[in-house]
Amino acid sequence: MENSSQIFRVGVVGTGLMGSGIAAVFASAGRAVFLFDKDPKRLDEATKKIVDIYQEMHGVGLTSLSQAEILAHIKPVSELADLKAVDFIIEAVPEVLEIKHDLYRELETVVEERVILASNTSGFMPSKLSEFLAHPNRFIVAHFWNPPHAIPLVEVVPSQHTLPSVVERTIALLRESQAEPVLVEKEIPGFIGNRLQYAILREALAIVRSGTASPEAVDTVMKASLGRRYATVGPLETADLGGLDTFLTIASHLMPELAKDEDVLELMRVRVEAGHDGLRSGEGFYRWPPERAQEVIQRRNADLLRRRVADLG
Ligand SMILES: NC(=O)c1ccc[n+]([C@@H]2O[C@H](COP(=O)([O-])OP(=O)(O)OC[C@H]3O[C@@H](n4cnc5c(N)ncnc54)[C@H](O)[C@@H]3O)[C@@H](O)[C@H]2O)c1
Repeated sequence: MENSSQIFRVGVVGTGLMGSGIAAVFASAGRAVFLFDKDPKRLDEATKKIVDIYQEMHGVGLTSLSQAEILAHIKPVSELADLKAVDFIIEAVPEVLEIKHDLYRELETVVEERVILASNTSGFMPSKLSEFLAHPNRFIVAHFWNPPHAIPLVEVVPSQHTLPSVVERTIALLRESQAEPVLVEKEIPGFIGNRLQYAILREALAIVRSGTASPEAVDTVMKASLGRRYATVGPLETADLGGLDTFLTIASHLMPELAKDEDVLELMRVRVEAGHDGLRSGEGFYRWPPERAQEVIQRRNADLLRRRVADLG
């Protein structure tokens, strides 16, 4: 098949929050998915999580496969060596460089040179991740967003060593899986998405810290305006639509006023030190009783999935 990834079997290593979602995306696209986690309990839970994700997808018509068909595509394995038969491996183990390096060292003893090794890292550069690999030319970053079944973007980031064929096949595989790959041509910490996300977070923290507005007001402004618009037109399209002359004038006055340094992180540091790290502890900028947490996550997923269905027509 022309432009096909020719990738039929995918290995997913690490079946936590992201690994389970990524596995569901590939399985619902008809790939045979081999799942490995060093924690057998996590591996047991992964199948149930994938069924839950499948039900959300099926409920809005994002997959026509039956639950039995999806499950037939999933094969939990208890040894890393059981990934020998796959064509493409993506790891979603914790964002700790040593853990990822140790895993790659072990994987290279298991799989052939033809197998593509991908990382779902949130921000490590691929050249750093692949620095100890015997074959860094088969390594690539494929950064899915949470939740992977509802947000289509995958940032594809090669290092200077990555083979063009590895880039092409990774992009083809993602397209065949209804994802929306975007190639980041030059590696850079945080890639594109997290740089944009953290630039906004810095300004949001600065506004709250200065007493200008509450966290609720900042979040409402984003949700009721920019958040909606950005789903249809990006920031550079918006500038073109509004007129670059106007945007240039406003930016010349406003940009010198924007937050530039890390002192705003204090606002998060005091909360983390007090044990208020957000949803997990039940308190962060907001209080998160379980019913509220469930309601917000369900609403977020439902909105995102509606949008996915509309995009796919
Ligand atoms: N959480 C997010 O919103 C998000 C979004 C995008 C990317 N990421 C990235 O995805 C990766 C995974 O994040 P997560 O939130 O799913 O983590 P997680 O903690 O939910 O899951 C990590 C899983 O990896 C397993 N694991 C640890 N060491 C292992 C090893 N050596 N071999 C096999 N399995 C191992 C753990 O048992 C666990 O199940 C990280 O690199 C993270 O930066 C996370």
